[in-house]
Amino acid sequence: MSKKIEGFSKLSKAEKINWITQMHFEDGTKAKEIVTSYNHANDKIQKSHDEFIENAIANYYLPLGVAPNFVINGEEFTLPMAIEESSVVAAASKAAKFWALRGGFKSQVLDTQKIGQIHFLFDGTTEQIDTFFKETKQTLIDSTASLTVNMRKRNGGITGIELRDKSDLIDNYYQLHLSFETADSMGANFINSCLEQIASTLQSLAKDHEAFKIQQLSIEIVMSILSNFVPQCLVKAEVRCPIDRLAIEEGMTGMEFASKFIRAVEIASKEPYRAVTHNKGIMNGIDALIIATGNDFRAVEAGVHAYASKDGSYSSLSKAFFEGNDFVFQLIVPLSLGTVGGLTQLHPLAKWSMELLGHPNAKKLMEIVAVAGLAQNFAAISSLITSGIQKGHMKMHLLNILNQHGATPIQKEKAMNFFKTHNVSYSAVTDFLKSNP
Ligand code: MEV
Repeated sequence: MSKKIEGFSKLSKAEKINWITQMHFEDGTKAKEIVTSYNHANDKIQKSHDEFIENAIANYYLPLGVAPNFVINGEEFTLPMAIEESSVVAAASKAAKFWALRGGFKSQVLDTQKIGQIHFLFDGTTEQIDTFFKETKQTLIDSTASLTVNMRKRNGGITGIELRDKSDLIDNYYQLHLSFETADSMGANFINSCLEQIASTLQSLAKDHEAFKIQQLSIEIVMSILSNFVPQCLVKAEVRCPIDRLAIEEGMTGMEFASKFIRAVEIASKEPYRAVTHNKGIMNGIDALIIATGNDFRAVEAGVHAYASKDGSYSSLSKAFFEGNDFVFQLIVPLSLGTVGGLTQLHPLAKWSMELLGHPNAKKLMEIVAVAGLAQNFAAISSLITSGIQKGHMKMHLLNILNQHGATPIQKEKAMNFFKTHNVSYSAVTDFLKSNP
């Protein structure tokens, strides 16, 4: 039987679930039971979730954890983290506690510029489009007046517009490259609305332009869209302390730890295979907080990795070095975040997370999120250069393995005790459960 369907989106939610579970699952009744059980008991909450996307049939849960004891610019925070990876929240909490005793984290927004582009084709000369752009620039900006009025009240709006000649890349290809300040919103809708308005004004001005008419020249808009590459929407997070205060591992001096740490970061700065994993560790912290606060983690991921390649080869986002008697560890990342609009105020748990953070504005949220990335990176490298990553990982993963085996509460308790002093592996846990039925 064909699994194609017309008009699926018009079916009711119950009808959608029935169709899917009957068409795609061996045991349709069981599949329906599972997916239905992931709907919220409170109809109002469930309805708000259903309205986030098309064809919603259930909720996909991630654990929401919290990492306490963060001191950021002298203020105390508990960070909300939505993530499935077992060891991430524990690692963040450990790093937070460690640095709270050593002056805490410093974090600072360096810039908040967002970018949008109108990509178009023009079949005249560069001089002609250049002259036309100079003549029409103000009219193009003015055409967005009603869209930007509220943003301008919040000190935001369009902060720059330039014509870029890209005809060396593709014949007749030009761009209007715009910069924006979007205050406390991430700004995607605002930017895209402004761009589409400017594109339409550009096209109609070109149609009425006498010189273009005579020579039958035209502008063809290809697309208008914000860029998720935001190398001027940057935040810097940092920790520092005297080198001797890093003597945390038995048998390792502060200098030995710091030197090995700096070497590990240097490897990530020079070697792309390592850099990708190193930066993935940073994103463990960043994404968890971004998801918890209802921000767009795909946009941030895309922008961060492009930024990591900005010098021509993929490199570490963090730096570690000595400064006098201090060990310094820094992270600079592009983060385009919002605290108004989007899901931040619609998703009850995103709202809750924002309250947990003390209702930060967008700049403060950028500072907190960068710290989560730096903390995670510190925890990962510290483990890698000392005990190795598996010890902590497998300890946290033990419960997942026990759950996969359907272990009883008594078996779990026994296993937790046993594996305090034994190495965790899938087969070791399987054997343990066999001999402790
Ligand atoms: C695992 O999710 C993240 C790490 O691989 C990061 C790193 O290697 O730096 C531990």
